[in-house]
Amino acid sequence: MPDGMNIDYDGLIPNNVGLNADARVRKALETWHPGYIDWWKDMGPEGFQDSLVYLRTAIGVDPKGWAKFDYVKMPEYKWGILLAPAVPDRKIPFGKHKGEPVWQEVPGEYRAMLRRLITVQGDTEPASVEQQRHLGTTAPSLYDLRNLFQVNVEEGRHLWSMVYLLHKYFGTEGREEAEELLARRSGHQDTPRMLGAFNEATPDWLSFFMFTFFTDRDGKMQLEALAQSGFDPLSRTCRFMLTEEAHHMFVGDSGVQRVVERTVEAMQQAGITDAHDIAGVRKLGVIDLPTIQKKINLHFSLTLDLFGNEISTNAANAFNAGIKGRYREDKLEDDHQLLEATYPVLRHVGGDFITEDVPALSALNLRLRNDYVQDCNSGITRWNRVIEKAGIDFRLALPHVAFNRHIGEFAAIHTDIAGQIIDDAAWAKLQDHVLPNQGDADYITSLMVAVTEPGAFAGWIAAPRVGIDNKPGDFEYVQVVA
Ligand SMILES: [Fe+2]
Ligand SMILES: [Fe+2]
Repeated sequence: MPDGMNIDYDGLIPNNVGLNADARVRKALETWHPGYIDWWKDMGPEGFQDSLVYLRTAIGVDPKGWAKFDYVKMPEYKWGILLAPAVPDRKIPFGKHKGEPVWQEVPGEYRAMLRRLITVQGDTEPASVEQQRHLGTTAPSLYDLRNLFQVNVEEGRHLWSMVYLLHKYFGTEGREEAEELLARRSGHQDTPRMLGAFNEATPDWLSFFMFTFFTDRDGKMQLEALAQSGFDPLSRTCRFMLTEEAHHMFVGDSGVQRVVERTVEAMQQAGITDAHDIAGVRKLGVIDLPTIQKKINLHFSLTLDLFGNEISTNAANAFNAGIKGRYREDKLEDDHQLLEATYPVLRHVGGDFITEDVPALSALNLRLRNDYVQDCNSGITRWNRVIEKAGIDFRLALPHVAFNRHIGEFAAIHTDIAGQIIDDAAWAKLQDHVLPNQGDADYITSLMVAVTEPGAFAGWIAAPRVGIDNKPGDFEYVQVVA
């Protein structure tokens, strides 16, 4: 068997990293484990801890059969440590070490940088579980409830993956970081999570779908960039996480689509063609398209901030070092060193936008962000097809990249959703019309009522076309124990 295909599934921590033969790391993880379970019970899904949930568990890393589905109580979920199989003779794919054999140990000079990247990635995983912990009590169906919990347990597993790397490769400092990952809390005043978007509330299910569509997709982009890493254990970890992440994208993408489907269906039935007849549409008990647009505006802009400054020496250093690559680095055709290359950056200078060619190395955050925007747009196109087919004259769109930003080139200005720069007074007036306001939140909250009958769905969301694991429509995805 190639390295990485041997799974030890019977111990406390299922793994394919040879934990049995590594007493030091096994001990460290077994010591960390009770704190993790405490965290899960404290900050994981509220209620449902004794319910049987039909969950997918990763049991291997073979692309053809890596998971199995079964009923499991969430606290008993097997959070394993699984790395994608090693690529034989893999070489560092980019940066100044390009072509050298990948590292199996942390290079001393990049230790701090790697630890920081792994910790930041690790911090986002439990953060999203914390953000989503109240949603179970208002799930629109058992199908959706299961999907929420699936995402939650897998984010928990992603935390495990990062903690494994910290324990295995970063000694005392790694152990301290692993402890801190259990101590920070999303939205906490004194000990918040590390990144802004992960301290925002996820108050309702439309927010959850938007979060999994937009913010989990940032996670996907970051994992893609780290999957290119010359530090091979990180690359292999991220490659396997990406197989799970695909489902999170699906939950968001199909979730928003089902909301749109239900809205236009109700509008058609009621003979409403004007999408801006918000009062009329809300009387039908569905979410009007302009409010869906506002949610897009909010989640997209919050998530863009996660990519950091457009022009960044940290990003350049991480690339040069061979630690963090570009999206699909291995598919790109250039010198993979970018010493001479330039990249166009939209900047805000003197009250105006200009496009400036800057050294490509320093624009890597922006480049990843641009790839992300493209990825987002494919979802928007699919949602618009649903609206178009219903004959409704309304299209969803991503707002301008300068809209509602708090980090980077546009942090100091306000724009409308088209990117027109406006002053503070105009922004104050505009906000209610382009971002969800209290009335929108109250209306959405009024729709959030749990539906727990198998096969039934809340009135504001359409049923999915197929079940999870090909189960029939009335399958009992969660056997709820109060
Ligand atoms: Fe994750
Ligand atoms: Fe995710």
